[in-house]
Amino acid sequence: MSVNDRPTGQQPKPYESAFLKACRREPVPHTPVWFMRQAGRSLPEYLKVREGTAMLESCMRPELVTEITLQPVRRHHVDAAIYFSDIVVPLKAIGLDLDIKPGVGPVVAEPIRTRADLARLRDLTPEDVWYVTEAIGLLTAELGTTPLIGFAGAPFTLASYLVEGGPSRNHEHTKALMYGDPQLWADLLDRLAEITSMFLKVQIEAGASAVQLFDSWVGALAPADYRRSVMPASTKVFDSVASYGVPRIHFGVGTGELLGLMGEAGADVVGVDWRVPLDEAARRVGPGKALQGNLDPAVLFSTPEAVEAKTREVLDAAAGLEGHIFNLGHGVLPTTDPDALTRLVASVHEQTVR
Ligand code: CP3
Repeated sequence: MSVNDRPTGQQPKPYESAFLKACRREPVPHTPVWFMRQAGRSLPEYLKVREGTAMLESCMRPELVTEITLQPVRRHHVDAAIYFSDIVVPLKAIGLDLDIKPGVGPVVAEPIRTRADLARLRDLTPEDVWYVTEAIGLLTAELGTTPLIGFAGAPFTLASYLVEGGPSRNHEHTKALMYGDPQLWADLLDRLAEITSMFLKVQIEAGASAVQLFDSWVGALAPADYRRSVMPASTKVFDSVASYGVPRIHFGVGTGELLGLMGEAGADVVGVDWRVPLDEAARRVGPGKALQGNLDPAVLFSTPEAVEAKTREVLDAAAGLEGHIFNLGHGVLPTTDPDALTRLVASVHEQTVR
């Protein structure tokens, strides 16, 4: 049974949560908070359960995924859980030779740069990621009214890892392909859109209450290039899950100039990094969309008073918005003090209780 087949009156339990209300731009009891990369990273209980198990291996063990996903919910009382996985999991699942190197990120053995290489990107099937379905089943039972956010990497960000062969500062091979062979580029992004769409559908069918598309590195592009060479593939992903009716969040870093287009691509919620204040972001995105963000994750290394003041700034800029989900402007940094995150959640809740 898919999410939208549920008879009325039997909506998934998190439907009335502050997080999903904010995504739908409905009135909320308090501003909901969650953190990108809240699962894993600095939590001692995470490091303990991960000991001896490689990152990608961890993503394929439903009980372990369940435990890691729940850890930040228990500790920080965040308003949503994010499914513990990685953006390269579906690429590994279709048989690509790639690994996640600690402290580095995803590394691809043979980069994808030619038409012949494209044949290695076969379709993803639900059976390829059976462990996702199983883990989400376990998770939604444990989470009760707390919503679970599913996620995937957007076609551009996935393409960057595949074409570069690993993390990249300048994305030079990626841009060389995008400008030099627009047809091959379009076909590559379209393939990735198919894979990403299926990965999101599997998560929604299993019970995810919202999905976030991470286009982390797309801020490397100018708006005209984004519109021409990336937006069609991202739109295809958003359209493919539109009929489920779950909120779709669209996030990237350094995307101040792209915020309007990222909303236009089909998102219900636009994620904003710390470089653009939320009131200005709202003007760029236009009406009809909620915003998510946008405390600089580095602020958490400062004094409690400074964190409090910067949090207030974010909340003040968000005061006139129809829907606001408090988050960091990018993921939790690896050496962040977990207690600073717990305090931040409590502080946002206290300051926004209505
Ligand atoms: O948000 C969460 O807490 C859920 C889990 C999650 C992970 N990766 C776990 C992970 C999510 C949502 C991601 C998304 C992801 N992965 C993105 C988009 C988010 C962003 O930060 O922009 C990107 C670009 C990746 C690719 C990737 N995987 C990177 C850059 C890294 C970090 C490398 C490092 O060690 O600094 C990874 C590895 C990774 N993904 C880890 C975790 C917990 C670390 C694994 C390890 O150390 O073994």
